[in-house]
Amino acid sequence: MDLTVKLKRSYSLLYLVEKYLQPFQLSPETLQEVSARLRKDLLRGLGKHSHHKAPVKMLPTFVRATPDGTEKGDFLALDLGGTNFRVLHVRVEEEAQKVLKMDSQICAIPQEMMLGTGEQLFDHIATCLGDFLESHNLKCQTLPLGFTFSFPCEQLEIDKSILIRWTKGFNCSGVEGKDVVQLLKEAIQRTGDYHIGSVAMVNDTVGTMMSCGYKDQSCEIGMIIGTGTNACYMEEIKNVKRIEGEDGRMCINTEWGGFGDDGSLDDILTEFDVEVDKTSINPGVHIFEKMISGMYLGEIVRLVLVKMTKDKLLFKGQISEALGTSGRFETKFISEIEDGLENAKKILTELGLDWGLVDASVVCLVCDTISSRSAYLCAAALATLVNRIRNNRKLDHLKTTVGVDGTVYRKHPTFSSKLQKAVRLLAPQCDITFLVSEDGSGKGAAMVTAVAQRLAHQSRLLEESDGEDDDDEEEEEGQ
Ligand code: BGC
Repeated sequence: MDLTVKLKRSYSLLYLVEKYLQPFQLSPETLQEVSARLRKDLLRGLGKHSHHKAPVKMLPTFVRATPDGTEKGDFLALDLGGTNFRVLHVRVEEEAQKVLKMDSQICAIPQEMMLGTGEQLFDHIATCLGDFLESHNLKCQTLPLGFTFSFPCEQLEIDKSILIRWTKGFNCSGVEGKDVVQLLKEAIQRTGDYHIGSVAMVNDTVGTMMSCGYKDQSCEIGMIIGTGTNACYMEEIKNVKRIEGEDGRMCINTEWGGFGDDGSLDDILTEFDVEVDKTSINPGVHIFEKMISGMYLGEIVRLVLVKMTKDKLLFKGQISEALGTSGRFETKFISEIEDGLENAKKILTELGLDWGLVDASVVCLVCDTISSRSAYLCAAALATLVNRIRNNRKLDHLKTTVGVDGTVYRKHPTFSSKLQKAVRLLAPQCDITFLVSEDGSGKGAAMVTAVAQRLAHQSRLLEESDGEDDDDEEEEEGQ
């Protein structure tokens, strides 16, 4: 075919492709609008009377301080939030200001267990923990335990945490509305052969913030962009209307994944987002998360590619069995494809598609558009948080650190740089350092437990010295 004809065809194809992708392209004004809507939802979540119905839950975590570098001791950590469950033995060293992972073990959570009964799940966790203690000679010790449980929980105390709802593919019966610490303790009792010390419940965002906080004490935000997405930050207690107290700060687990659950993002949802939500195991729930996180990005891309193929724009109109199967286009393919055209060709072949060079380029463009939207939406949400912290403190300029984790942020070739650039645009008065967390769900959980112990110890000392003062007063009165 003549080169000009070829070029003309490619241009008109690109023009058509753009029409499919245009709904995913959010202008800076739209991102500002998203940020403004989230700002209102943060307030609803914090309000005494509005929080029950708020889509962004703004959950108090009872973490009142970030590390001060004096924490120390040996801890156990449990990490449940994805397809694997981990047990860790962690040592926090004061002198070296280090959090050391001594040992760890991974136990897979089979798909059936993610959808089975809560009792089965917690028995599995207790057995894995028991095996770990046995094989590391720790059974005779009673170590404090940090439990990273990466689902939305209404935390009543540091060791009392009610699961609001499952997310990310979990749906075990009999757990929603129950205290997860109690379920864990009961399962450990059923094993009957070991004990644990005090428990601290930790969301992965909080673990991430705390593990980075040990290195950089201005770290006051934790953000996850992995299978799910979420963030926590240090809020002024006086603004958290549903808990007592005026002084100091508390870490709030925003659960921003639920943003949009009341329809507030309907105008920016594409037909593909609607489809992903409809076919998920929790329709109507965690709408923002479904536009952003690793559990869903691959499926959004797949649906777009299927539509383009059906409309004869791609692969000579032939959908392979793999492309036609839900879940077969994995989110990691997006990172790989955006890393280079050669990867794209390999993946398209593996998916059984009859591709040409133009097809491969269009697939790259689709991946780039959908992952960029994810990065920009996260940026809008993060900008809302940093702007809020700046306003809370009545500062013209805020310098702060965000601890980050999650496969999408870590593995995608351009996600982090796009996100950072967009936050700078949306929060120009904030100077943010991004710190990738080193195992927030493991070491961070230990750190939360260590800080909780430090604070408990300090308040015991304070009570004792108050007691002594009272005695002195009594003596003086008696004289
Ligand atoms: C959960 C959050 C968690 C996030 C990242 C979401 O689905 O609701 O609690 O922090 O995933 O793991």
